[in-house]
Amino acid sequence: MPSRRRRTALLVVIAAVAASAVVAAPSVAVAAPPVYTPGADGAGDPYFPFAGNGGIDVLHYDLDLDYAPPAPEPAPLTGHLSGVATIDLVPTQDLSRFNLDLRGLTATAVTVARKAATFAQVGDELVITPTKKLKEGKRAQVVVTYGGPTTRPTDIEGALYGWVTTRDGAMVVNEPDGASTWFPVNDHPVDKATYTFEISVPEGLVAVANGLPTGPPVTAGGTTTWNWDAPDPMAAYLATASVGDYVVNQYTAADGTPIFDAVDPTRLGAPSADLALTSDMIVFFAGLYGAYPFNSYGAIVDDDSVGYALETQTRSVFSRSAREGTIAHELAHQWMGDEVSPFRWADIWLNEGWATYSQWMWTEHRGGATAQQSFDEVMAIAADDPDEFWQVVVADPGALGLFVDPIYDRGAATLHALRVKIGDDAFFELAKAWVDRFGGATASTAEFTALAEEVSGEDLDAFFEAWLYAPEKPTEW
Ligand code: ARG
Ligand code: ZN
Repeated sequence: MPSRRRRTALLVVIAAVAASAVVAAPSVAVAAPPVYTPGADGAGDPYFPFAGNGGIDVLHYDLDLDYAPPAPEPAPLTGHLSGVATIDLVPTQDLSRFNLDLRGLTATAVTVARKAATFAQVGDELVITPTKKLKEGKRAQVVVTYGGPTTRPTDIEGALYGWVTTRDGAMVVNEPDGASTWFPVNDHPVDKATYTFEISVPEGLVAVANGLPTGPPVTAGGTTTWNWDAPDPMAAYLATASVGDYVVNQYTAADGTPIFDAVDPTRLGAPSADLALTSDMIVFFAGLYGAYPFNSYGAIVDDDSVGYALETQTRSVFSRSAREGTIAHELAHQWMGDEVSPFRWADIWLNEGWATYSQWMWTEHRGGATAQQSFDEVMAIAADDPDEFWQVVVADPGALGLFVDPIYDRGAATLHALRVKIGDDAFFELAKAWVDRFGGATASTAEFTALAEEVSGEDLDAFFEAWLYAPEKPTEW
């Protein structure tokens, strides 16, 4: 999807070219021959230099996946995935070649505009050289045939992520850069795209992706095929295609949002009771942040565990337990993280701070601790806390600091302190304006602090310095 940011960048380039043309215009205009260069091997995020790529803007991924889960125990926990990814993209520069991210799977054929292309896998980069160079702005279709054995990939922290093979299928959660473990992708949130999925699995298994099924699953010859349409622009880390022996529950939430839950049969007890609060939660958060932003919602509750839950777009994934607080957290992310996504991974506190603060507000709404009490609990952490809680720079925690406690709790406390400072009217106007202005795209901490000043009319430099940048406990703000 062409993001707001990219359009702005393009205009700046055009303006610069126009300006230089005015200065240097020869009496007879001679068009310079186009210079075709390789796309960069990263999107420019300092935390994950090879995540995403330069020179391309993906509009749509159509993923045709065939998956064989592992054989029963004691067979190894290894599955097999075969895929055909049909990717519609627009070059953002004149390209001699370009990259996609693909990790641990082997590409066997690549076409660009229906012509066989040369390709190579270098580390986790799939380098594609089309026979005919690609012109900036001219849409092209890339088809990658790929596959291989699936295992249980881990992120830089050692946490499971990506296509996590389970005994009955796969639990698929990609934050921050694990999408490349199951499809060739421009794996950075700045390049959102729409998705369709056609997933074939052994007869009777459920394959649940983002968005909505386009029809009932079709079973033939021992295989069941599920088709999904996810028409809302989505960051790659929020894509899923989880496979399991799930029980499906479909209904409509009070605001009209279609819900599709897929719950492992061993998890139907307590999680399902808490999941029944989803409809009320959607109504509650829609009141705070604006209408629910996507075509559907629902939960995937697996009996396997990656050790955390993820706000996969339209269909949050839960590890074993789905309890009220976490359900509220992942749902709130649909606005804060999914509809508005981080511009850089350093901006992660905007995801986790908002989701945690949303959880605080839900708890208060339910008659539990007030947001002020939750805030007070964070402020009870000593300035010289032995775990150095207050030493994390929330607005720049480092690639290994994305999911540390302060990102969640100091992040939420920052928002509460801001609410107290600027007042409820300005604070909730800010929350709605944030989603409204940056929805469908990404936004940065600088854009957040600027919008807070714009909406409140206050100078908040010292406030944000104390809360987001100072590696110490805020004392005055
Ligand atoms: N974004 C997820 C959440 O809602 C957490 C992801 C944690 N990932 C990890 N590798 N620890 O809280
Ligand atoms: Zn979260």
